[in-house]
Amino acid sequence: MTMKSNITETNKSSMKDRLIVALDMESPEGALALVRALKKSVSMFKVGSQLFTKAGPDIVRKIHGLGGRVFLDLKYHDIPSTVAKSGIEAARLGVFMFNVHVSGGGTMMKQCMQMVSESCGREGITRPVIIGVTVLTSICEETLRDDIGISRTIPEQVVHLAMLAKQDGLDGVVASAQEIRGIRDACGQDFLIVTPGIRPSGSAADDQSRIASPAWAMEQGADYLVVGRPITGSPDPLKAVQEILEEMEGAGKNEGFQGPRGQEAK
Ligand code: C5P
Repeated sequence: MTMKSNITETNKSSMKDRLIVALDMESPEGALALVRALKKSVSMFKVGSQLFTKAGPDIVRKIHGLGGRVFLDLKYHDIPSTVAKSGIEAARLGVFMFNVHVSGGGTMMKQCMQMVSESCGREGITRPVIIGVTVLTSICEETLRDDIGISRTIPEQVVHLAMLAKQDGLDGVVASAQEIRGIRDACGQDFLIVTPGIRPSGSAADDQSRIASPAWAMEQGADYLVVGRPITGSPDPLKAVQEILEEMEGAGKNEGFQGPRGQEAK
């Protein structure tokens, strides 16, 4: 049986399809109101552990009911069979994309991809895009070295994990915009790169360490940008989205747009 995958649906032509709004909110009603307000401007919404723990899988069905795509950001990191079976349930929910932690290892990633693909083929479901989390964008060099005990630098560790994810069959990775060039060199143009830690000019870094502007992330070659608090915390979320989309459109057109905080765009 031929198995369809959402990877063929990843549309790079429209900015609307490349901005993912992170619905990190306490209120499911508030999250759905935001989907209603933004759905003409944005195609995909990220459901993470806060909203999923509060509202359960029903929130995904409701977002689908409003016509939105869902990136289920539960960052699975467990023994291979648990991750694979969780991935099968995510696929049955009809999510467009979900993720696992690359640091769960090669066997975990391979088994997840294989079992999800087989299950989707058997059940006639389109396989979700499966991506791997490399090093969280909130993590800095000191945390990676002193707390987690990894002696590689962040760019080295991100590229190491991205290569592992590619070798073990994932569709792409989550990484900061600052690592895109290294990942592209190691993994090629067809490997998806999803980039959180995006901060439009003038917005707070919050708990993110490795941040970049929307234009700079696009210029580096991100496939998707994930933005949460600069939109959810804005008094006018639709205006915030429109400004981010404009910044994304402007990538490469303006001299000297903002790169990683405190650095010039290369
Ligand atoms: O509010 P903010 O724009 O910082 O939200 C970023 C979102 O992306 C959060 O939901 C966070 O869980 C997620 N994320 C991240 N870094 C990763 C993977 C996911 O910030 N490496």
